Amino acid sequence: MLSRTRFLGSVSRIGASKRFASTKSLKETLQEVIPSKQEQLKKLKAEHAQTVVGDVKVENIIGGMRGIKAMLWEASVLDPNEGIRFHGLTIPDCQKVLPTAPGGKEIIAESMLWLLLTGQVPSEAQTRQLSRELAEKGDLPAFVEKLVDSFPATLHPMTQLGMGVAALNHDSLFQAAYEKGIKKSEYWTYMLDDCINLIARLPALAARIYRNVYKPGTPLPAINKDLDLVGNYTTMLGFGDNHNLTEYLRLYIALHGDHEGGNASAHTSHLVGSTLSDPYLSYSAALFALAGPLHGLANQEVLRWQLAMQAEIGSDVSHEQIKEYLWKTLKGGQVVPGYGHGVLRQADPRFIALQEFCDAHPELQESSIIRLVKKTYEVAPDVLKEHGKTKNPYPNVDATSGCVLYHYGLKEFKYYTVIFGVSRALGALTQLVWSRALGLPIERPKSLSMDALEMLIK
Ligand SMILES: CC(C)(COP(=O)(O)OP(=O)(O)OC[C@H]1O[C@@H](n2cnc3c(N)ncnc32)[C@H](O)[C@@H]1OP(=O)(O)O)[C@@H](O)C(=O)NCCC(=O)NCCS
Repeated sequence: MLSRTRFLGSVSRIGASKRFASTKSLKETLQEVIPSKQEQLKKLKAEHAQTVVGDVKVENIIGGMRGIKAMLWEASVLDPNEGIRFHGLTIPDCQKVLPTAPGGKEIIAESMLWLLLTGQVPSEAQTRQLSRELAEKGDLPAFVEKLVDSFPATLHPMTQLGMGVAALNHDSLFQAAYEKGIKKSEYWTYMLDDCINLIARLPALAARIYRNVYKPGTPLPAINKDLDLVGNYTTMLGFGDNHNLTEYLRLYIALHGDHEGGNASAHTSHLVGSTLSDPYLSYSAALFALAGPLHGLANQEVLRWQLAMQAEIGSDVSHEQIKEYLWKTLKGGQVVPGYGHGVLRQADPRFIALQEFCDAHPELQESSIIRLVKKTYEVAPDVLKEHGKTKNPYPNVDATSGCVLYHYGLKEFKYYTVIFGVSRALGALTQLVWSRALGLPIERPKSLSMDALEMLIK
């Protein structure tokens, strides 16, 4: 875990004077920052290769590797109590310094992506330039459109997204260059090009899936070159005239962009990428990890659960009634969706940021489902503490995320994880660029059978 001083050091490194000055492109900026990181890694290897930073206990091995510090991940670090920091910046820091969309107040995917990739806060001009680049590269190849259109509407949208992303590897620049033979030191530039192309194409792919499944026969608007990534995504979904939903999605997508490396989707893309698979294949694999109910699917589960609660006990309910409903869920052997976390031990700051968004929008404060989410939050931690199983009785980001989408009319909750999938690409793909820039090796942890473990203990 990084110390607070180190965190604050990172914040001040990204000083205000630097903030809105540069006009360098993303690639130029990375070219500048990569050598010092390479140097840092070289030094770590030379001076500390044998330094011990933790023990591996049997509980770690049989407990899903929780708690083992075993991965390099550059863009963000998750503190159990404080939550996520992106290159040292907390969510409120990001909300203060990252450029928004024209006419918007919320941070956007482009400024978050820039921060994740370079560790620097982009200027307004750099953010707009990146928005334009993404919009210009956003169209899908015709064969992918045809492929997606051929899927049955009954195929889960996440399966469709994963298959669409994998098929985009047809155009992988990294794979083509690798086949021709390139120097290791050049890997990251092709990776970066692939990653930008993939992020650019995700909204058109994800929106096409939404239209095919839920609004068949309706025309998909063309990409507007003057809009930011999420502005285009919302428009293609058919909600472009809902400013508040667009702003919510901007915040949601920026906040879900990265949550350090050990979570199942990020780790999957890191593992697959370490074999030098291209970003399309690596991220496609990550999406199938995200599709699990204990990970990305939780936001749809929360909504399903809150709606069932509403149907059973109504909207205007007492804390006592919610408490009874929570116990019913727990006694039924189910988890309370939206609560608990593999690393966090306090309320998720992403949950708090989304709650603040709700508090700032009167229409959301009046929404019965959002009110129920808030009231549940007032009761659930104590019930979960009394239940005594979960190590973290507090809400994670999913406790509220889907319910806001539902209020704004995006009611197809099987689709919610697709939005998460569009977002998580920012962090997972960032790390692929860094993994290749740093020349990280193929991942290969050692496994043991129970017999082998017992021998080792003896
Ligand atoms: C997120 C989650 C998968 C983390 O799992 P984890 O790291 O194993 O969590 P813990 O170490 O606290 O789990 C210890 C026990 O508490 C239980 N527990 C954890 N969260 C719980 C919850 N929200 N409700 C009820 N029980 C819970 C676990 O199932 C486990 O029980 P077991 O010993 O019988 O297997 C888990 O908290 C969960 O299932 N939450 C609900 C789903 C969710 O919101 N996922 C989104 C995550 S961002």
